[in-house]
Amino acid sequence: MSDFAIFVGRFHPLVVHLPIGVLLVLAVTEAVGWRWSKLRLTPGARTVILVFAVVGASLAAGCGWLLGQQGSYDEVLVDRHRILGFVTLGLTVVLVVIQRWPKFYGAVLAVALGIMSWTGHNGGALTHGPGYLAEHAPAILQPLLGGGEPGRPTPTTLAEADVFLDVVQPVLNARCVACHGESRSDGDLRLDSFEAIVAGGEHGDALVPGEPSDSLLLRRLYLPLDHKEHMPPTGRPQPTDTDIVVLEWWISDEAPAEGGFMARSPDPEVVEIVATQLGLPLPPIPDRAEMLVLAKSLEMQLGITIRPLTTEDPWLGANARLAGDAFDDDALARLMPLAPALHRLDLGGTSVTDAGLALVGEMAGLQRLRLDDTAITDTGLAQLSPLKRLVSLNLHSTSVTDAALEALTGLPRLRQIYVWQTGITPTAVMALAEELENRRKLDRYRQQIAANQRRIAEETFRVDFGAKPLVLPEAPEVEAE
Ligand code: HEC
Repeated sequence: MSDFAIFVGRFHPLVVHLPIGVLLVLAVTEAVGWRWSKLRLTPGARTVILVFAVVGASLAAGCGWLLGQQGSYDEVLVDRHRILGFVTLGLTVVLVVIQRWPKFYGAVLAVALGIMSWTGHNGGALTHGPGYLAEHAPAILQPLLGGGEPGRPTPTTLAEADVFLDVVQPVLNARCVACHGESRSDGDLRLDSFEAIVAGGEHGDALVPGEPSDSLLLRRLYLPLDHKEHMPPTGRPQPTDTDIVVLEWWISDEAPAEGGFMARSPDPEVVEIVATQLGLPLPPIPDRAEMLVLAKSLEMQLGITIRPLTTEDPWLGANARLAGDAFDDDALARLMPLAPALHRLDLGGTSVTDAGLALVGEMAGLQRLRLDDTAITDTGLAQLSPLKRLVSLNLHSTSVTDAALEALTGLPRLRQIYVWQTGITPTAVMALAEELENRRKLDRYRQQIAANQRRIAEETFRVDFGAKPLVLPEAPEVEAE
């Protein structure tokens, strides 16, 4: 399509108000004249207004036709809008012809107004998205405005936010669903529901849970902006860096279909992004004074020591080793009010069991954990997978085996593991180390790629002659596969 045609087409949103105004004024004037005959339009004035309406409607339809050819709109909506627009134009012509037969004229004018309003509403849906008008409408008007199912209410706290519906889907809705949705699914790929994403597209799976760099969904975003397979295509609103961080986090965390966002113990960086996105306050940091008072009384009751880790922060380390056998799962349960502040926990030599480890799994902030010389088994260890900040884990003199390591592959920060006198073999622990190290490397490379892409975009020299922009130097081809 020539640049000039595109230029003319873009007058559509401006010109379209002309026939709308003319037809509305005509209808109001006719209604007034019908009630008070003195104010009735003369046949000549009516003809002038109607011709004006026909000219306006023709201009709007012409520009609209050109705009619709550009193909960056939802096809089903464009088709409907085009038909409705031309029907409106046709009705204005009919009005010119039948203006001398008041019986038909009034009825056709009313129909023309109705169809014109529908066309306008449909045009709004095209540019602002189908739910635009319905989004903030009272519930009773929703079906009338084509709101479909009522929108998902925004959660009121981060703890209520759903990991997919409130965190991931909104990013895809804003950046991708116009072309990968119900009415248009480019590349045979829909991104408007979890099931649709899993179903994949023309090239198969778009999502590989746990592997952001193998997921086509992200690989297409990482490609340089000028690459022909870059998503979203050039000229369309691009995801922000924070959008990409959210999608990466979700896929690395095994792409859950549902469940609480905070229950996945996301990194503080991700929590901050999502809180901003949803307009919600960050989860409160525990109060140091309050935590210390609580710690004092628990120390006495349970015969353990609890110490602050710094002189300012609320973070604590608890050592139950001193209590030995006397410290059991019930005692652990009584420590739970301190959970938000616990960064270190030593349960070595105590009588905690697998049942107690379910509680430990809820202490999302734990960085160092000692479980040596306890009765825990592989089953218990599997419950530690939410401890995403765990750096060091001591398992020595327990009966855990290689099978337990599976649960630890999802702990991105883990750097130390003590396995002396356990059933864990050197081969299995080396495999775990390699897996964790590879993931960390990949994360680093991904960050470097994103940073380089920003640099390329900043450094590319662009010359614009008014026609197609000339890009110097030619950006190197990078293969998507
Ligand atoms: C303006 C329309 C448009 C937008 C917006 C858009 N895409 Fe696409 N997408 C396409 C087209 C067209 C294709 C098919 C051609 C191709 O493979 O490049 C495609 C193909 C894809 C494919 C390959 C599917 C397959 O199996 O072949 C993926 C993955 C993809 N898009 C992801 C995204 C993501 C993620 C977003 C949002 C961040 C997005 N797209 C936004 C138009 C769009």
